[in-house]
Amino acid sequence: MMPEQKTALVTGGMGGLGEAIARAFHDAGIRVLVTHARDEGPAKEWLAAERDKGYGFTSYDVNVADFKSCQRMAERLHADGHQVDILVNNAGVTRDATLGKLDKENWDAVLRVNLDSVFNVTKHLIDGMTDRGWGRIINIASINGIKGQFGQTNYSAAKAGMHGFTKALAQEVAKKGVTVNTVSPGYLATTMVTVVPEDTLARIVAGIPVGRLGQPDEIAALVAFIASDAAAFMTGSNISMNGGQHMY
Ligand code: CAA
Repeated sequence: MMPEQKTALVTGGMGGLGEAIARAFHDAGIRVLVTHARDEGPAKEWLAAERDKGYGFTSYDVNVADFKSCQRMAERLHADGHQVDILVNNAGVTRDATLGKLDKENWDAVLRVNLDSVFNVTKHLIDGMTDRGWGRIINIASINGIKGQFGQTNYSAAKAGMHGFTKALAQEVAKKGVTVNTVSPGYLATTMVTVVPEDTLARIVAGIPVGRLGQPDEIAALVAFIASDAAAFMTGSNISMNGGQHMY
């Protein structure tokens, strides 16, 4: 008998790491829903380009920083007949500045998009997973949530907070067949990283023993494993993949 097809929701699934995760899930036979905050035109173009490459995705427009927007998204996807078995809280932004130059707006934006979003999205999908007795929640944090990073008090705090959420929720749902884990990628070859000033980035890469940025599909392969049945015993973990930049 063929196993029942699982459905995954990947927030921020139209770019960088999220896109790689969406593709890895698709390759594993999982139905993939992606969220985005783009205008309709660019979102449709992305979907069409993916379809041309053999990836059929369904998209939902949502502001993950807004609780009501997430509630409406959950209602829409349930009304469309989807149930989410695997949730990847991947949507994130950076607004780097040293604390002296960091204004309230950029503190709030990073905390809302990176951390509040985890509550906002998970809240509406967790009961479905526990009711069905199977689920995976994978929170994409960062090396910088573990070691801190010059210029990222906001981002480091938000990413560290995600793992606190992971550990608490993992305990609440462990007996219901739902695992909750954090993945902490290092510096990847995505736009989020390549906007870092060139000389700063060169210094960062020099501190990575493997000697290069990571590829999004390297992280995506790890995420696909955590989403699989084989990873049922892994919960409350924070798994690093960072080219050796931070070992602990
Ligand atoms: N440690 C110690 N000192 C540092 C430093 C560091 N890591 N980085 C910079 N400094 C020093 C500089 O040498 C400089 O010193 P002097 O004034 O004595 O020359 C001083 O701090 C000011 O540095 P800048 O000129 O860079 O200051 P700025 O205000 O122009 O920029 C910044 C500050 C925006 C934080 C910039 O340094 C920067 O972008 N840093 C990179 C931050 C980073 O790694 N972001 C990661 C983004 S990717 C991501 O987040 C994804 C992920 O999960 C990994």
